[in-house]
This record gives sequence, structure tokens and C-alpha cells, in this order.
Amino acid sequence: MGFRGRDVISILDFTREDLEELFGLADYFLSNKRSYKLLEDYVVALAFFEPSTRTRLSFETAAKLLGAKVIGFTSEEGTSLAKGETFADTIRMLDGYADLIVVRHKNEGAALYAAEIAEHPVINAGDGKQHHPTQAMLDLFTIWKLFNRVDGLVYAVVGDLRYGRAASSFIYGLTLFEPEKVYLVSPPLLRARPEVVRVLEEKGVKYEEKRSVEEVISEIDVMYVTRVQKERFPDPLEYERVKGSYRITLKLLEKAKDHMKILHPLPRVDEIDPEVDSTRHAAYFTQARFGVPVRMALLSLIVGVKP
Ligand code: CP
Repeated sequence: MGFRGRDVISILDFTREDLEELFGLADYFLSNKRSYKLLEDYVVALAFFEPSTRTRLSFETAAKLLGAKVIGFTSEEGTSLAKGETFADTIRMLDGYADLIVVRHKNEGAALYAAEIAEHPVINAGDGKQHHPTQAMLDLFTIWKLFNRVDGLVYAVVGDLRYGRAASSFIYGLTLFEPEKVYLVSPPLLRARPEVVRVLEEKGVKYEEKRSVEEVISEIDVMYVTRVQKERFPDPLEYERVKGSYRITLKLLEKAKDHMKILHPLPRVDEIDPEVDSTRHAAYFTQARFGVPVRMALLSLIVGVKP
């Protein structure tokens, strides 16, 4: 189907071929880092109702490198939402000013709702615990760059698989490829949600749930670590029970394959020891950097322009 004129709500709305096209163009932008005029007649709105560093700033960088004008806000406080305006009316206003709308919101379904309201394409920059499709795109691109493939590798997705939207979208993204095996590694309280596991089953992906990364460390090619999503716990006592319950350390990595790479959507809290940053395994800062070329490619493909 391609990307042209489409909303980006879930990575499952796209095919492997779509993602391979995206990776090819992202790779071009990575190797040809300069300013372009491809989107000079376009306005991109960044509607961030929830905090962000990487997603917002990499979208802004991507849009500006493509020549677009960027408008938006970084919290509800600075907008008329603080005066009681509705989410729907806010999206209607942005739809009148911009050609593309990037939405991050704490509520599941907010981006889909925005897409139903807006005539212009809406990109989901994270909605509650549900989806973070552009994060999954850059995660998969990182693996594609590091290993020259996404297929045939053994993955461990580690951490908060219950509330983490980046983890869920990464798992969904893997189902578009042919991983050898996916380990879902989490404390019992933070196991992957049934709707995520169901997609693995429907797509015939071999998976296994584990409680600790020690059980799989010597087998895996890619470790995808996520933090405990404190802000999404309905009960602070529940958070207290699981915080600090897993940590990636140098000692653990002694048992890893030489080529094993660690990804993390970031921000990190305490789940990866900073000493790991300087090892050959750490790929999370490279991964974050790839957010710019991947989002440049995505914006270009939605608008339908190529360099
Ligand atoms: N990975 C990610 O979504 O980071 P931010 O919350 O900083 O955008």
C-alpha cells in the first residue's frame, strides 16, 4: 500500500515491503546528511500532549532538514486546552494550519481519534500504552543497519511489556519479519498484554515468556530493554513492587554473544548500568540518532516526494 497520504497509527497497518522502502530511504538520508527542499511548501504540526525528548526533537529536526515549517506545543498547559477547549477542537485547529499532524497523548486511541477528525495525515508519536509506530520503525531500521537483516535473529524484549508502548510496537514490528525466536522477558506483573501475544500467535512467530534475562542471555542476538513505565501504573504500590526488579550489568554481559546488541527506546532510568554504555553491545544511542533519518524518510513518503 505504501505511505503516501496515509495516517500512521500502528506499525501493523504497514507491510514488510513498506518498511523496506522506508529503510532504503532512511539509509539514503543517513548517508547524505544535508538540508533538502522537499517539504518547503509544507507545515508540520507537533502536537505533544505528553512529555518527549527524542520523538519530538527528531521529528522537528527531520521536518526542518526537509525544508518544512514546524508549529506545535510540548504540553497542554501552553494551549487553550487549559481553558477547557476539547482535544477534538484542538486537532481541528491544527488541521487548518498544517499539512501533517504528529500527535503524542497519554490516552490510548488519541491518535486514531485525531486521524478521524483531521483531513491531513496524522502520525502517532505514542498513545498511552498502546502504540509507538515510528519508534518501532527506527528500532527495526537500527537492527537492519547493524545486522543487515531483521530475519533469523533471536530477540529478547526485556522489561515492562505490560505498559510499554515501545515494547509492544517493537514486538508487533517483528511479526512483519521472520525472527528465529522472540523471548518476552519480564517480572510476572509486567507480562505482555494478551492482544500483543495474540499477534505473535496469529503470525506464527516462535516466542517464549521468561522471568529473567539471565535465562536467555547466551542465546540472543538482540536485547530490547525498556524501563518500568511509572507514569502508567494505576496503583503506585504496584509500581513499588516492580521498580528496580531487573538491571543489565557488565557481569550479565559476560555470558552474551560477542555480536549481541542492546537496544532501548530511551529514556533509561536504572535498567541499564551506565558502565554498559562503553561496551560493544550498546547500540541505544546510535538507535536514538537514527530517529532523524527514519522520520525524514517517513515524512517524505507520506507526502510522496523523494530526493
Ligand atoms: N523513545 C521515546 O519515545 O522517547 P521520548 O519519550 O523522549 O520521545
